[in-house]
Amino acid sequence: MPRFLINKGTPLRGRIRASGAKNSVLPIIAASLLTDGKSTIEEIPCLNDVRTMCELIECLGARVRLEEGQNRLIIDSGNITNTVAPYELVNKMRASFLVMGPLLARQGMAKISLPGGCAIGNRPVDLHLKGFAAMGADIVQGHGYIIAKTRGRLRGSRIYLDFPSVGATENILMAAVLAEGQTIIENAAIEPEIVDLTTFLTSMGADIKGAGTDTIRINGVKELKGVTHAVIPDRIEAGTFMVATAISGGDVIIENVVPDHLKPVSAKLREAGVEISEELTSIHVRAGKPLKAVDIKTHPYPGFPTDMQSQMAALLSVASGTSILIETVFDNRFMYISELKRMGAKIKVEGRSAVIEGTDKLMGATVRATDLRAGAALVLAGLVAEGTTEITDIEHIDRGYMNFDEKLRKLGADIVRVED
Ligand code: EPZ
Repeated sequence: MPRFLINKGTPLRGRIRASGAKNSVLPIIAASLLTDGKSTIEEIPCLNDVRTMCELIECLGARVRLEEGQNRLIIDSGNITNTVAPYELVNKMRASFLVMGPLLARQGMAKISLPGGCAIGNRPVDLHLKGFAAMGADIVQGHGYIIAKTRGRLRGSRIYLDFPSVGATENILMAAVLAEGQTIIENAAIEPEIVDLTTFLTSMGADIKGAGTDTIRINGVKELKGVTHAVIPDRIEAGTFMVATAISGGDVIIENVVPDHLKPVSAKLREAGVEISEELTSIHVRAGKPLKAVDIKTHPYPGFPTDMQSQMAALLSVASGTSILIETVFDNRFMYISELKRMGAKIKVEGRSAVIEGTDKLMGATVRATDLRAGAALVLAGLVAEGTTEITDIEHIDRGYMNFDEKLRKLGADIVRVED
């Protein structure tokens, strides 16, 4: 199994370019099923999750060409021959569940393995199903699968989301664009990835108003056409490099970003004593002063992103003072903390709160990546830990970060990937 070996190195310096957003391209690949035309998606991050999503739509009948060298994906969904998303694919990546809305809209049925929980907690899909049922789908669960069917087209409906779920907003949005009549999604998620998906759908001919606000209105249309679309930059990858620069006391410019999408991360790093300056499409991070403890509470956008929680915990482990980290989005997103503590971090977890007492140094150790953001956090800790840090199960990191070790080496990090 591949692993990373990291030695404490010099502060990171130089320039790095963020890739396209994983959490934008996955729903957009699912949305390409909504047309029998051909779509071209640019700025594709070449990640294992993207390859898995391509494998899934191919097994549904789409024809896919992933041109990794050009970060381009060409999808022809003219011939959907299957509406079953198998266990082995959904189990590998829960975002596979995002094909349910497009399959219901296009084919009138979908049979999808129920996604299990994962390393960050129980991850139900009840809000997705609430939306589909409100639009007239009959839904049954059996033998680990969810089977949804519609007699004719889905019907527009008013749907209130008890929690502004990103996935539920995306799945219902994709079901609604071909439904009969108007759908209103209330308490919708407002993440930038929702806006990017809406840009893609609108250019296909969908009639959507209000994306990026908590109320989205969709008037169903008869059909959609294939288009070309460039995916927005990955704000979480960019944020991860911002924290890597901060923890190592470095000086790095991160290009191909939307600074607005990173406001909460920039704000917290400034509070920790890091200098952040923004240009139109880049962010300059300058660290070097002693890091200060800060309190963080994760929230749906535009709050502090849960996907940056573990990276910040690594940083706060070596800040001076005590920080409080509260995770409000997922019910079990602290699994990485036991790994950080093996490196000498002083962290106490009480329910959804973690109390982090900064220490002046971490020690290299063998640790395990429990999910992709946890893995990234352990890499960041390894950059400043005394001695060598070995990180196993790095396939989690490869799911969400394109050439992570290569990009870090480019900035001067002492990290190698060892293939057994
Ligand atoms: C998306 O997951 C992202 N994944 C996650 O990124 C991200 O952490 C999350 O949104 C929150 O921002 C992709 O976009 C592929 P949710 P999603 O539905 O859609 C509860 C990463 O590291 N909920 O907004 O699954 C759920 O249990 C990944 O890149 C219900 O209760 O997140 C959770 O507590 C990790 N019922 C909360 O809502 C539902 O039907 C947020 O989940 C759906 C969700």
